[in-house]
Amino acid sequence: MAKIIAGMGTSHTPAIGAALDNGKSGEPYWKPIFDGYLGAQAWMEEHKPDVAIIVYNDHVNAFDFRIIPTFAIGCGSEYPIADEGWGARPVPAVQGYPEMAAHISQELILNDFDMTIINEMEVDHGLTVPLSVAFGQPKAWPCRVIPLAVNVVQYPAPSGRRCYNLGKAIKAAVESWDEDLKVVIFGTGGMSHQIQGPRAGLINTPFDTAFLDGLSQNPDKLCEIQGIEYMREAGNEAIELVMWLMMRGALGDKVDEVFRFYHVPASSTGVGSIILETREFHDQNKARTAA
Ligand code: DHB
Ligand code: FE
Repeated sequence: MAKIIAGMGTSHTPAIGAALDNGKSGEPYWKPIFDGYLGAQAWMEEHKPDVAIIVYNDHVNAFDFRIIPTFAIGCGSEYPIADEGWGARPVPAVQGYPEMAAHISQELILNDFDMTIINEMEVDHGLTVPLSVAFGQPKAWPCRVIPLAVNVVQYPAPSGRRCYNLGKAIKAAVESWDEDLKVVIFGTGGMSHQIQGPRAGLINTPFDTAFLDGLSQNPDKLCEIQGIEYMREAGNEAIELVMWLMMRGALGDKVDEVFRFYHVPASSTGVGSIILETREFHDQNKARTAA
């Protein structure tokens, strides 16, 4: 049976991808950020997930304003890298897992979540920057990816509570896939940032820190935050944080925080990252280490 072993939350700031691609990761502005992610990369290296479900948002690259799916799942076998206006990032194409994604789609839809099914699409920084901060610069990404795209670009975005509940359904869907696989789920975007208008540059560190604490300890409380509140308190684009709640919903009640990183700023963003192991996986690990 496939198992979700952990969730990773991470910002997807496009400038982080550009810094890495252009060899600037050792520069004083960027080094603390790339150093900050080393712990996450070590965790991935140690646990080697087979599949990553990446909950992310497209930024008007794969979709445009003609069609805006609230929740969409990638069932393709390969996702090319989008050209976002300055050429596609020089990173490997993303390999999908059509059979497992089709199974998850079926389970979610029959469980009352009306997913849009996508068989072909390109992926933008919303998906590739999380891969880069988790896995560095490999020749090929080390796991298959099931993209799960959430509309947080065009009002109205889904609520945090709805995302959290969809996460719970994803957990059940994964566990009914009959193949021994280690699955990691990513919740991406955020943390606080506003990239346009008079409040451009707004960052709210106390909000971000409380969000990281809540993810670990009391996600149900975070589900009460309304869309307008994310935007008022932590900037327009902080609404991306609802995707972290989908990741959290997929981990079960109790989790163990094994990695956290927070830094201000990268470009306009409060950059944060967290890895939460499911209690079951954490306990198995402890037992293995003790033996
Ligand atoms: C920035 C952050 C984002 O999440 C994004 O999609 C685009 C830009 C930024 O901080 O510059
Ligand atoms: Fe974004």
